[in-house]
Amino acid sequence: MPPPRLSLPASFRRRRVPKATLAARRWTSGLPILRRGAVTLREIEEADGPAIVALYRLARVRRHMSQPFKGATEFDAFLEWSRASRLKGRYAGFAIHVAGTRKAVGMIYAWVTARGVAELGYALHPSVWGRGVFLPAARAMCDFAFGAMDIHRLEMRVGAGNHRALAATRKIGARAEGTLRDALITERSHGDAILFSLLSSDGRPVRSAVG
Ligand SMILES: CC(C)(COP(=O)(O)OP(=O)(O)OC[C@H]1O[C@@H](n2cnc3c(N)ncnc32)[C@H](O)[C@@H]1OP(=O)(O)O)[C@@H](O)C(=O)NCCC(=O)NCCS
Repeated sequence: MPPPRLSLPASFRRRRVPKATLAARRWTSGLPILRRGAVTLREIEEADGPAIVALYRLARVRRHMSQPFKGATEFDAFLEWSRASRLKGRYAGFAIHVAGTRKAVGMIYAWVTARGVAELGYALHPSVWGRGVFLPAARAMCDFAFGAMDIHRLEMRVGAGNHRALAATRKIGARAEGTLRDALITERSHGDAILFSLLSSDGRPVRSAVG
């Protein structure tokens, strides 16, 4: 005979929390470690400062960025901002690590700009360009944004003359939507940016299934 069913008063019943809310609660209190083959993404922390500041000091990287870190003080301020923004559910920034190297080789982030919309940004040290790091790192970041962060639309703004980054962005399946006039303002110049988007409902290209 089955045990009698207990009938609890409403105040004792477990409230059902939507899955998306649970996931959001988890990532905003601390980012998980994401692994794709030899590539690992970990929340940016103090120890990554020297490698990331050095990365943004390289002319080949700096000239494509609108807000490169100038030094340790700016990096510390960024770290404080990024933690506070993560707690508010607005930012997830990862340092990119490769097996066998001690220092971070780059960073990648999703910055929530509107409900369900986030901007994706990335930079890698030139020593790993073309070495199969970008694709798994970007795939891990996109999967995290579409999953735990509950993002529907990822946007990327890439300099119209930044041919390497344009090709890399297409490789993750993002589609170009148009030209943003003089939207990329760097230390030395103004230049057009191409706006790309990737939706959670877009199919993923076969090549991006790496990792
Ligand atoms: C953008 C970035 C993260 C991409 O990483 P990466 O390792 O260079 O990317 P990949 O090598 O996987 O892909 C680049 C593609 O561009 C191609 N490419 C290189 N130079 C090119 C050029 N001049 N014209 C067209 N395609 C070019 C490469 O052949 C490669 O395609 P393939 O894999 O089909 O051969 C890296 O180049 C970077 O950090 N750049 C500086 C910072 C930056 O521009 N960030 C983006 C701003 S949002």
